Amino acid sequence: MDNGVIQCHRVSYRLGDGRALVSDLSFTVGRGETLVLLGRSGSGKTTTLKLINRLLEPTAGEVWVEGRATTAWDPIRLRRRIGYVIQEVGLMPHLTVEENVGLVPRLEGWKPERVRTRVRELLNLMGLDPSEFARRWPHQLSGGQRQRVGVARALAADPPVLLLDEPFGALDPVTRAELQREFRRLQEQLQKTVVFVTHDVREALLLGTRIALVADGRLVAVHSPAEFLRAQEPEVAAFVSALRGWQEKITF
Ligand SMILES: Nc1ncnc2c1ncn2[C@@H]1O[C@H](COP(=O)(O)OP(=O)(O)OP(=O)(O)O)[C@@H](O)[C@H]1O
Ligand SMILES: [Mg+2]
Repeated sequence: MDNGVIQCHRVSYRLGDGRALVSDLSFTVGRGETLVLLGRSGSGKTTTLKLINRLLEPTAGEVWVEGRATTAWDPIRLRRRIGYVIQEVGLMPHLTVEENVGLVPRLEGWKPERVRTRVRELLNLMGLDPSEFARRWPHQLSGGQRQRVGVARALAADPPVLLLDEPFGALDPVTRAELQREFRRLQEQLQKTVVFVTHDVREALLLGTRIALVADGRLVAVHSPAEFLRAQEPEVAAFVSALRGWQEKITF
């Protein structure tokens, strides 16, 4: 039986002074599922992603990826299986767009021509014309363009697991809606196991198979999008009422 590609078992992460950034977190992400981690700023979302790809190790509990505790994985091998879009994008400033996107395929030993073809395919997918963008440096891009290059880089070597930390946060609403649609289409086709971080409840409802709401480093609830809209937990209701407030203001 498939027990989930990512499993968090009672995971906590405490600082040296005893302060918990994440407390007693348990959840499972099944193959092909998109689990959205939704929560306010500072609730522990980025910390949770870092615990999954072992940039951090739990101070209590265990995270399992593909049937093995992260602490039992070779960290490099683990991270090659996980595409990661970090919140601040994290492109290498001394590499061009093309070199950034092709980074992991090159490390995996792909032939240069195959890397080139793959990079062009991904830039086109992200709406960045390769003839215009491939040779640019990260500082020559807008914030939203950098973010799209970051997503292309995470997808490049076709990893089975993706961790996306507010990947569309810096985009204008029109481009954002386009990429959200593209993400849904791709996800139906590719069936990656995804943890997607956002604080945008609309994005969570649109993209999540399930939504895990975190507050103060704790898991409040995990709901399907339909359940989320009817759920009774006060923190869930706070997010839903933010959505309703926006709907009520505008009458079409
Ligand atoms: N190295 C650190 N030392 C001390 N506190 C930290 C450290 N890293 C994170 N924190 C704190 O831990 C909490 C959780 O941080 P985290 O980055 O996981 O939040 P987040 O949910 O991703 O927030 P945002 O939506 O703003 O990105 C925050 O209060 C943050 O200030
Ligand atoms: Mg964050």
